[in-house]
Amino acid sequence: MWHWTRPFRRQPRAARVDMTGKSVVVTGASQHSIGYFVAATLVAWGADTVVTATARCETMANALRTELEGIDGAGGITEHPLDLADATSVAAFAGWYRRRCNELHVLVNNAGVGYLAEIGDIDMGRMRALFDINVFGLVDLTNRVAPLLKAQQSGYVFNIASTSGMKGAKTGTVYAASKWAVRGLSQCWQAELRPHGVHVTCVCPSEVQTDWMGRTGRNNPNKLYAVDIAETIMAALAMQSRALWPELAIFANNPWKED
Ligand SMILES: NC(=O)c1ccc[n+]([C@@H]2O[C@H](COP(=O)([O-])OP(=O)(O)OC[C@H]3O[C@@H](n4cnc5c(N)ncnc54)[C@H](OP(=O)(O)O)[C@@H]3O)[C@@H](O)[C@H]2O)c1
Repeated sequence: MWHWTRPFRRQPRAARVDMTGKSVVVTGASQHSIGYFVAATLVAWGADTVVTATARCETMANALRTELEGIDGAGGITEHPLDLADATSVAAFAGWYRRRCNELHVLVNNAGVGYLAEIGDIDMGRMRALFDINVFGLVDLTNRVAPLLKAQQSGYVFNIASTSGMKGAKTGTVYAASKWAVRGLSQCWQAELRPHGVHVTCVCPSEVQTDWMGRTGRNNPNKLYAVDIAETIMAALAMQSRALWPELAIFANNPWKED
């Protein structure tokens, strides 16, 4: 049966993407989830792509590096701890990155958490903690590296929002509001960064079968896997640089089919 652990295609579908010598940052790559597959797809792309994948703590970052290095044909990989809820950690990461690279071609703001509760039951502490990661941490990091993008007059920022940020639903106040915020700020960044040649794309996945919010063990081949989001990003990168894909939603085509 198809499973997320299937080997990477050495030559992904979006064959026009030239990542030679490009520097990439992917946040929240520690789990075998969306961030991991985005990082792994870019790592598998070739020896000249330098991928910086972040995890919340040093131990997980080191484990992540070892795993990414095991991918067939792996290119340059660095790892670094980054806790988006901690402003000191964000500043330390951005400072380290800027000292080390001074270039950034692709930033994937992936890290995010969920919290579901109905109005009347919302724990405001948990709401603030979620916004610290999903919104404030994402802005803080991008704010610190945006000067690199502007100086280069090129680059790509992918903000991972959600279809939850497109349509409200029961228990969605906190999570949906954070993803709506990501969609809104993505539009602001497009207005600000397009004149500098920088592409900002907001990616809104529907349900993806990761361990998100403890939902382990899902493996329906008709529903989205993390690798599908990685391939979506590669498809956007494969477009001519004159074109901008401002926002996209991605759904499973026939998720009702049970195999
Ligand atoms: N799965 C879905 O159905 C779905 C649908 C639409 C959108 N999304 C969005 O896609 C993104 C990735 O989701 P996923 O399904 O891959 O979730 P996941 O498996 O829970 O992975 C989330 C990642 O974010 C990291 N993270 C959590 N808190 C962090 C913090 N304070 N600082 C830095 N990193 C932190 C996690 O690191 P740790 O390992 O340290 O916890 C993990 O690497 C999220 O933004 C999510 O909202 C997911």
